[in-house]
This record gives sequence, structure tokens and C-alpha cells, in this order.
Amino acid sequence: MPGHAIDTPLLHGRTILVTGVVTTGSIAYGVASRAVEMGAEVVLTGLERDLEQALAAAVTLGIDTVIPYDATGPDAGEAVVAAIGSRVGHLDAALHAIAFAPRAALSGDMIGVDPVGLEKAFRTSTVSYAETARILQRLAPASGGSLVGLDFDAAGAWSVYNWMGVCKAGLESLNRYLARDLGRVGIPVCFLFSDLSRAVTGEILHVDGGYHAMAAPLRRTTTGEPAR
Ligand SMILES: NC(=O)c1ccc[n+]([C@@H]2O[C@H](COP(=O)([O-])OP(=O)(O)OC[C@H]3O[C@@H](n4cnc5c(N)ncnc54)[C@H](O)[C@@H]3O)[C@@H](O)[C@H]2O)c1
Repeated sequence: MPGHAIDTPLLHGRTILVTGVVTTGSIAYGVASRAVEMGAEVVLTGLERDLEQALAAAVTLGIDTVIPYDATGPDAGEAVVAAIGSRVGHLDAALHAIAFAPRAALSGDMIGVDPVGLEKAFRTSTVSYAETARILQRLAPASGGSLVGLDFDAAGAWSVYNWMGVCKAGLESLNRYLARDLGRVGIPVCFLFSDLSRAVTGEILHVDGGYHAMAAPLRRTTTGEPAR
């Protein structure tokens, strides 16, 4: 693997924002735990109401702070940028592990669910991905950063999951639009040779700088930047 000494942990020297840790059972906790093992400095955010629990999980990883973050709050991302900026200065990557939907939106009929709850579900589970992207964009070095979200197959209708499936379909689409707007996302291909990719099997992984996700070729300016 060019540029990576064999005995250096894969994420050595990288600073990663992990959202969505509540307990040691959270998916985000598993990611944070692996990232710490692989040498990363991990910064955690959590909902105010969950902070005590989140901190209890964090200390098991040797992390003593969880930055409060309600992804639906106005300008909440600004406070996170300021807190991370003063603590660690920059970010190389961010994990979005934020989702919520009212119980009535997760099963039963699609029709007749309170639209206020659906708006909250979409704002929390889908729109917040763009907010996480903005935090990363503000703190990433000029060489760029990696943004990762957690999806559940939104290609078809399941017997349950309902409006969260719709939110995840939105998340997938938003991911493509963010790839367009944020430009090239550096993916270390050496990832495929590491243990981290053990669960990736039977999968087609596009390594084309995001070209397959664009519905039409992007117009370029004379400097090579995507045109606005
Ligand atoms: N558990 C699964 O089987 C599964 C499967 C596929 C995808 N996912 C996805 O993985 C991610 C994590 O889910 P999980 O199962 O670990 O736990 P979870 O569903 O409990 O995690 C959701 C997280 O979102 C946070 N959250 C909710 N509202 C928020 C807000 N307004 N602002 C900031 N944070 C908020 C919660 O505090 C919690 O940490 C979610 O995106 C979920 O959809 C989970």
C-alpha cells in the first residue's frame, strides 16, 4: 500500500467526527471504537438529552467529551464547528449516524401519518446529512475529507420501515448531490486490502471519482472546477 507503512495503524493521524453515539450498542459506537483502535483521533457529538449516556460510552474509548448537537436545531452546526475547531482544529472524515422517525411512520399504512412527524423524520434523518457535510467542509484540509452515512436499502418497499425508507431514499439521493457539490472524495483503495472491508462482499464498488452518480456530465470551468 503506497504511502502507508505496514506497522502504522490505518487511520493514524486522522481526526474523525462520529455522530450518533448513545450507548455501547450504537452502530456509531462500533465505528468509533474501530477508528480509535486503528489510530484515529475521534470526536463525538450527541443529543443533549442523551449526553450523560453518551459520555458513559465515550469514556470506555478513552474520550472524555461529547459535544452537544441537535441536528435539527438552527445553526447547531456552527457551534459544533467552533467546538471542534478549538479542540482539534480540523477534520479528515465524518460519520453521519443520525436518524429518527415517529413510531407511526415506521409501520402500518403510509397514508394518514401526521405530516409534522414526517417533517421531523426527514429533517433529522436526511437533511442532517447535508449539515454534517457542511461541518466537515468547514473543517477539512484542502486535500479534502471523507463523508460516510448509514443507509438501509431504499430500492424497494419493505413490510415495515415505511417512511424511514423514504427518508433513506432521500439520503441516497442527497449523497449523490453532495458528491457533485463537494467534488472529489478521496477513497483510499488500500481499504480493500485491509480488515475494514471484510464485510464488503458481492459488491460493485465504483472507483471513478463519483462519475457513475452523476445524471449528466458536469460542466467545468476553465480552471477545471465544476460550474455553478
Ligand atoms: N440498527 C440498524 O439495524 C440499522 C440498519 C441500517 C441503518 N441504520 C442506520 O444507522 C444509523 C444509526 O442507527 P443505530 O441503529 O445505531 O441507532 P439509533 O437509531 O438509536 O441512532 C440514531 C441516532 O440518532 C441520534 N439522533 C436522533 N435525533 C437527533 C437529532 N435531532 N440530532 C442529533 N442526533 C439525533 C440519536 O441520538 C441516536 O444516536 C441510523 O442512520 C440508522 O438509520 C441502522
